[in-house]
Amino acid sequence: MAIQPPDAIDADGTAPAAVTDRRGRELRDLRISVTDRCNFRCRYCMPREVFGPEFRFLPRGEILTFEEIARLAGIFAAHGVRKLRLTGGEPTLRADLPALVRMLAQIPGVEVALTTNGSLLQHLARPLADAGLTRITVSLDSLDDAVFRRMNDADFPVAEVVAGIEAAEAAGFRPVKINAVVRRGVNDHTALDLARHFKGSGHIVRFIEFMDVGVSNGWRLDDVVPGAEIIARIHAEAPLVPAEPNYTGEVVRRWRYADGSGEIGAITSVTQPFCGGCTRARLSADGQLYTCLFAASGTDLRAPLRAGAADGEIAAIIAGRWARRDDRYSELRSQATAGLPRVEMSYIGG
Ligand code: GTP
Ligand code: 5AD
Ligand code: SF4
Ligand code: SF4
Repeated sequence: MAIQPPDAIDADGTAPAAVTDRRGRELRDLRISVTDRCNFRCRYCMPREVFGPEFRFLPRGEILTFEEIARLAGIFAAHGVRKLRLTGGEPTLRADLPALVRMLAQIPGVEVALTTNGSLLQHLARPLADAGLTRITVSLDSLDDAVFRRMNDADFPVAEVVAGIEAAEAAGFRPVKINAVVRRGVNDHTALDLARHFKGSGHIVRFIEFMDVGVSNGWRLDDVVPGAEIIARIHAEAPLVPAEPNYTGEVVRRWRYADGSGEIGAITSVTQPFCGGCTRARLSADGQLYTCLFAASGTDLRAPLRAGAADGEIAAIIAGRWARRDDRYSELRSQATAGLPRVEMSYIGG
């Protein structure tokens, strides 16, 4: 795969040409994990037995600085990436996150989005907006306080997250996307209520199938509630019509309320995988490049960065790795893939 010069322009004249993988998928999105730490212990992501007091998080010196992240993001953008999404762990735990957003927002041709658990948004929504963040997604698994606490396992009240969403709205983010991971028998009975609450609000609730990401969350297929089942439950109460994807390879399947009161979605990585259009790369907090959420290992970008490599050399590593990419884990998920090593979502980013 030839590396495109930074000034290469698409036929539509808007964006640099992207590098392409072995399945013809372009590199268009970069999800950047800025910390592997979190103040929640969602059982589907960071179960307390594994992520307890003894757990060794990344030491500070191994984590990329804002300058290093911004430099890498600029190189990705020059080679076709159009969306940067900050993730974690919980990205808002990283000190002075708005300063990073400000640096990233100056990169031409990219939008900067954030996925957060919402716990600190009441303080941060405004500074993030002022820094140039364009979109916010908040994880919220239930509006029932007891169920919510059971999901986050950190005794964190749901009212604080709801207030965080309101703060985001007040700071100008609209729609806010609300991500709800659904686990059968734990929070699926509150899904309808979540949909009802945000119907007509302008915000978009997306129900996510519980995934076997990482190796510590005790995933079982029996715990997965198919997105279609949730959608059918909502449709029975408030009729829905399918909506077209916003862009090729969009993760979510969208529906609109027939009465015009908004939109909801389902992210069906287990029952209806979307690897065919997957244009996402992930950068861990310590500067490893991953080409799939379910990968076992990454490609080190931090070492060349800290050894003084030129942009072109780093770009060549990225393009070379992407050109060899053949990942499609969710399409292959089976008994055979169950025992494979996989990095944890809190490390690689959601
Ligand atoms: P926008 O379209 O910009 O709103 O982004 P998005 O739909 O990718 O939203 P978001 O980043 O919030 O992703 C939602 C959730 O989908 C994530 O938290 C993951 O649970 C899941 N997800 C996102 N990307 C992938 C992926 O590449 N593979 C799999 N299997 N799941 C993914
Ligand atoms: N399955 C599905 N989604 C998950 N997330 C974290 N772990 C899982 C999992 N095992 C989601 C969170 C959040 C984003 C960061 O990733 O709910 O929306
Ligand atoms: Fe933290 Fe998000 Fe993982 Fe929950 S899903 S433990 S909030 S990183
Ligand atoms: Fe992309 Fe891997 Fe998710 Fe498939 S499983 S959509 S290849 S990140």
